[in-house]
Amino acid sequence: MNQTSDNLKAYPVWDASVRWFHWINVLTILGLIAVGTVILYGKEIGVSAEGKVLLKTLHVYIGYLFCLNLSWRLIMAFVAKNPFSRWSSILPAGAGFSGRLREYVSGTRAGYAPAYLGHNPVARLMLALLYSLLLIMAVTGLILAGTDVYMPPFGALFADWVTGGDAEKLAQLLPGSKEFVDMQLYTEMRAFRKPFISGHYYGFFVLLAAVILHVAAVVIAELREKNGLVSAMFSGSKVFSEKPVDLEK
Ligand code: HEM
Repeated sequence: MNQTSDNLKAYPVWDASVRWFHWINVLTILGLIAVGTVILYGKEIGVSAEGKVLLKTLHVYIGYLFCLNLSWRLIMAFVAKNPFSRWSSILPAGAGFSGRLREYVSGTRAGYAPAYLGHNPVARLMLALLYSLLLIMAVTGLILAGTDVYMPPFGALFADWVTGGDAEKLAQLLPGSKEFVDMQLYTEMRAFRKPFISGHYYGFFVLLAAVILHVAAVVIAELREKNGLVSAMFSGSKVFSEKPVDLEK
């Protein structure tokens, strides 16, 4: 803990791993949203068939980085030494959670929210929604990478499916082309794909709304509580004039 001006004290909360995860997550999601939107409205914009395959391939490469970064964060939540990086400080659960949630909401309404060094109870609800959506996007995206552009981790399986395992067809198979596929098998594969593209499509819009809500909530909390919420994702520390309620739990 470092002394700052007056009676404000800086408390370390987010270690470098969390901060790197957060900003790589932001950048990859922005990239995925941008390329995904062009894929979605490709017809209206006049993207050619080859252009669409290229965009899907680029989207998948950004997606791999997004998935690796997300996997790293999910593992870190089990093994991190910093208690604020662990599931116990993230999930909206555990003894006394509903009481702390009520206290935080009524405190915020009354103009005095309890000061949290880690995530406050409302932020935990938001994080549960965000992580669930990110997982849905990652899993459905990895399946679509296989069904649409025959890319890993499942591309070889889907290529095998649509060609019936014919080595000659497999060697000539191209993403976005139906030339070397067995049409009946291809139709079956597309039927299998349907729930995954629907999940990815609707997940995209819900995630977009959740991201906007997350940013708005962070800005509002920063303006009301003035604990350096935004700068903490760069510096790693928040500042308080009194001891946060979740310190030395
Ligand atoms: C936050 C994460 C993600 C967002 C916001 C996102 C967004 C989108 C959007 C808007 C589309 C167009 C949907 C449509 O055409 O109906 C799309 C398609 C696609 N996404 Fe993602 N995506 C994400 C993650 C991923 C990941 C991790 C992968 C794979 C590694 C992936 C692979 C694909 C593929 C292959 C398609 C083409 C499917 C198609 O439209 O035919 N996505 N994505």
